[in-house]
Amino acid sequence: MTELKSRKEAALTAIAGADTPDAVEALRIDALGKQGWVSQLLKTLGKMTAEERQEQAPAIQAVRAEVADAIAARKQALDAAELDRKLATETLDLSLPAPHIPKGSVHPVSQVMDELAEIFADLGFAVKTGPEIEDDWHNFTALNMDENHPARAMHDTFYFPDRDDEGRQMLLRTHTSPVQIRTMVNEGAPLRIIAPGRVYRSDSDATHTPMFHQVEGLVIDRNIHLGHLKWTLETFLKAFFERDDIVLRLRPSYFPFTEPSVEVDVGFAIVNGKRVLGGSGDESGHAWMELLGSGMVNARVIEFAGLDPNEWQGFAFGVGVDRLAMLKYGMDDLRAFFDGDIRWLQHYGFSPYDQPTLSAGVGSLRGASA
Ligand code: PHE
Repeated sequence: MTELKSRKEAALTAIAGADTPDAVEALRIDALGKQGWVSQLLKTLGKMTAEERQEQAPAIQAVRAEVADAIAARKQALDAAELDRKLATETLDLSLPAPHIPKGSVHPVSQVMDELAEIFADLGFAVKTGPEIEDDWHNFTALNMDENHPARAMHDTFYFPDRDDEGRQMLLRTHTSPVQIRTMVNEGAPLRIIAPGRVYRSDSDATHTPMFHQVEGLVIDRNIHLGHLKWTLETFLKAFFERDDIVLRLRPSYFPFTEPSVEVDVGFAIVNGKRVLGGSGDESGHAWMELLGSGMVNARVIEFAGLDPNEWQGFAFGVGVDRLAMLKYGMDDLRAFFDGDIRWLQHYGFSPYDQPTLSAGVGSLRGASA
């Protein structure tokens, strides 16, 4: 009995003195493991007489419980001390500035397209897209330019050698107007859409690149007239250029797919060597600049798209997105838009966090570097 007591005291002293979790674990195995001294004592119970066992068993069980409790308590104390040590030594300085992350910028063309979508969404227009690889039916025929129409030759079209299953000649679309046809065919009327995207013409100088961007506008409804077109363009251009003094001049023109067709000019002045829109082109110091093509959708186009022109009328317009970007943000060489020069992109690009919104003022956003 006294031997049991002194072994227990020795074990408890050792446990209290153990200063690592490993040391505690070693003591646990030494006492309570399969070959541990407490376990060995428990095994001796089987060979005892009933009286001996009645006397010894509670004592040995009590020692086992006491040793196990001491080990658990010591483990917990050591774990808590280890956590305190970590909290005291492993610090994270949340006031440090975030590391520099190399970041890209939003291309002015993307920015302007987002601005257009925002402005026109407010007028109830949906955004539609169509394929850049088109067929000559959608790009020309359905837009009232049959095979022999002279306007086809004016488009400097990139043709593919292939024809599609219906025998239509494949090409790179020369304008976004085929999206008019596709949307009317797919969705019928009424419609209010814009269609931004890439277009292709075999042409290249400071103001022309073989690939450029247009945005098409199309409204189809009942009783639509030229007044709706003029109001829509005026409202759009005032919102886009953020000036109330934008003045438009509508000039008779010709497109096969609109009748009548109007070329829209906008008044501007030269300020610090750059064109600044605003004011009438007839004022002194001002002039007119051709900005976009538009007109009332030709009845034949409405028919080609499967709608009844006696029921549905509409207007359409097409404008160069790159051109709009140059006029608004002051670049003067179109080719630089597509060079991928990192300095140009950093100078003229926009922060991805500056999403254009009408409430924030579409054009209050400036180039990321400005
Ligand atoms: N598609 C014409 C072009 O590329 C522009 C336009 C669109 C004109 C819609 C009238 C109506 O020049």
